Amino acid sequence: MKFERTRVLTGITTTGTPHLGNYVGAIRPTVQASRNPETEGFYFLADYHALIKCDEPSRIQRSTLEIAASWIASGLDPDQVTFYRQSDIPEIPELTWFLTCVSGKGLLNRAHAYKAATDKNHAAGHDTDADVTAGLFMYPVLMGADILMFKAHKVPVGRDQIQHIEMARDMAASFNHLYGEHFVLPEAVVEESVALLPGLDGRKMSKSYDNTIPLFAPRAQIRKQINGIVTDSRAPGEPKATQGSALFQIYQAFASADETAQLAKAFSEGIAWGEAKQMLFERVDREVAPMRATYEDLVQNPIKVEKILRAGADKARIRSAAFMAELRHAVGLRPLSAEVAAKQVKASKAATASFKQYRDKDGQFYFKLVDPQGAIMLQSRGFTSARDAGLAIGQLIENGISALLTLESQLEIPPLAAPADIHETLNLLRETSKK
Ligand code: TRP
Repeated sequence: MKFERTRVLTGITTTGTPHLGNYVGAIRPTVQASRNPETEGFYFLADYHALIKCDEPSRIQRSTLEIAASWIASGLDPDQVTFYRQSDIPEIPELTWFLTCVSGKGLLNRAHAYKAATDKNHAAGHDTDADVTAGLFMYPVLMGADILMFKAHKVPVGRDQIQHIEMARDMAASFNHLYGEHFVLPEAVVEESVALLPGLDGRKMSKSYDNTIPLFAPRAQIRKQINGIVTDSRAPGEPKATQGSALFQIYQAFASADETAQLAKAFSEGIAWGEAKQMLFERVDREVAPMRATYEDLVQNPIKVEKILRAGADKARIRSAAFMAELRHAVGLRPLSAEVAAKQVKASKAATASFKQYRDKDGQFYFKLVDPQGAIMLQSRGFTSARDAGLAIGQLIENGISALLTLESQLEIPPLAAPADIHETLNLLRETSKK
């Protein structure tokens, strides 16, 4: 067995343009964490979630591009992690339904986002559910599917999302109780040390307060916005308080401890606000400028981003398709032919699917799983030796479709093949190989 790394997964809703607060609070720490060789990262653009709160198609599309480009420009390496778009994984909405059927409605009634909406309606004297969509109500279930699909152990999120991870655990436990141990119970990870960035007006930097500085805005705009950060009216020469200063806190989020100490000293010595703002601009620019070229290149060439996301989806779908096949079987959504086929196999082994091994012109060793009609159900990539190819087949027969996970980089599921059929076929082959 391959050593199992800790799986870390998080999603970003695609409704806006990334700002400095997102960068400091989520992008930067996540990109750093993604370099830990002991973890396996799953990062995705939660565009199904975006539909819950945004009905502007062009904004969702634009936000998907900007967020993907920002993460890559900030150093996320799509080859080291699985970076994908939620809506490229059709198994997610399918799993959402499975989880819907094990989620208590009462549990969902207590979800923060839904409760906030109904409380607001009550306060205004409206009907409980006025203007509340079923999408908002189901939000935690969709999120549960995101997390449980990839068997995430750790889910880094903001404080406001902890409840959703707990709900995902509940769904996983209920499902496991009914159908066997299929899901991993995830844990929320809330990074205490990560800075909450104040915005231009001193409140938390957030789109809803309209006080953000976009991460990759042109330099001139960033300079202008930094000049607009609220300060008190102390004149140059008067000592200034670092406590409660938005300017100081933003600086601190970008600067080293030494640099921060120097600015604190300058504050106590009465630095002019204009000068402090210039220092902040230079410090932010020093961090952002080197990434800006990559960001702009990607935003101007969306096809590059599209390719990266498609490749990410291919990687993700090896898992999601295999896992969904297992789950369908578990709940009883099974091809009726399996029973019949099982009997047939006993009568005649020739009627069943089989592995074909061959050596191609490139000198590499390949195999494919072909059904009785000759259609390819699974195709391997090249192995350097016949022995390795044979071992992989052995693993597939021994461990069934879950072996796809250990072999993911060596296999392809052809577009027309159904993972559920692969699952049943491998089960059959295992059965017959035992006899
Ligand atoms: N709901 C999350 C947010 O608004 C985004 C999200 C969607 C997510 N699916 C997820 C986060 C799964 C972590 C895991 O921030």
